[in-house]
Amino acid sequence: MNDRSEPEEAPPEESRRVLTLQPGAVWVAGKLDRAAQGALLEAVRDVVRAAPLFQPVMPKTGKPFSVRMTNCGPLGWVSDRAGYRYQTLHPETGMPWPAMPASLLALWAELVGDPPPEACLINHYPPTARMGLHQDRDEDDLETPVLSVSLGDTAVFRIGGTTRKDPTRSIRLASGDVVLFGGPARLAFHGVDRILAGTSTLLERPGRINLTLRRVSKGPSTAP
Ligand code: SIN
Ligand code: FE2
Repeated sequence: MNDRSEPEEAPPEESRRVLTLQPGAVWVAGKLDRAAQGALLEAVRDVVRAAPLFQPVMPKTGKPFSVRMTNCGPLGWVSDRAGYRYQTLHPETGMPWPAMPASLLALWAELVGDPPPEACLINHYPPTARMGLHQDRDEDDLETPVLSVSLGDTAVFRIGGTTRKDPTRSIRLASGDVVLFGGPARLAFHGVDRILAGTSTLLERPGRINLTLRRVSKGPSTAP
């Protein structure tokens, strides 16, 4: 790639951490430093105190997910025997989801912009958990990017194309990494093959937390 007549130039630090995985899929490695990760974790703990993690099950079969989940923001994604959907209330407490932490709204404003996110799904992965290859397609808005933030142990994350048969690549998402799935990658198949337990000291116990922020409705914000 280098022409010998041209001296090789090291890219600036910032661009080395921003990698386009495929058109529309951007990996911002190390976006949150340790202090920001710690502050976000505290905000997540506040959310979980108000909206406890619940055990989702697969539609129809009722097979439990290996992750537990909760949400914050006006809408939350849930899965039960009846199907996948967004709803305004926690399935066990019957309470509205807690507000999205200001730091997440700021991250979205910086990386995505308007309209604001309506849902933040919080997945907790114990070290043995995984997430099968799937598309995020329960939203009416399939144009606004999805923003994903990783906290805790590194995940072996897989991303492919918009059909299940497309080739995939796998990357290691570490604590503080952010990924955006927009444009042609908005409907990319993705999943988590495994968690590399012990790769981060952020959480008290081995495991990982993933936050997925999404716009659900089309058009202007429905948020109060
Ligand atoms: C998801 O697709 O719901 C989660 C992805 C991740 O954990 O990184
Ligand atoms: Fe997903």
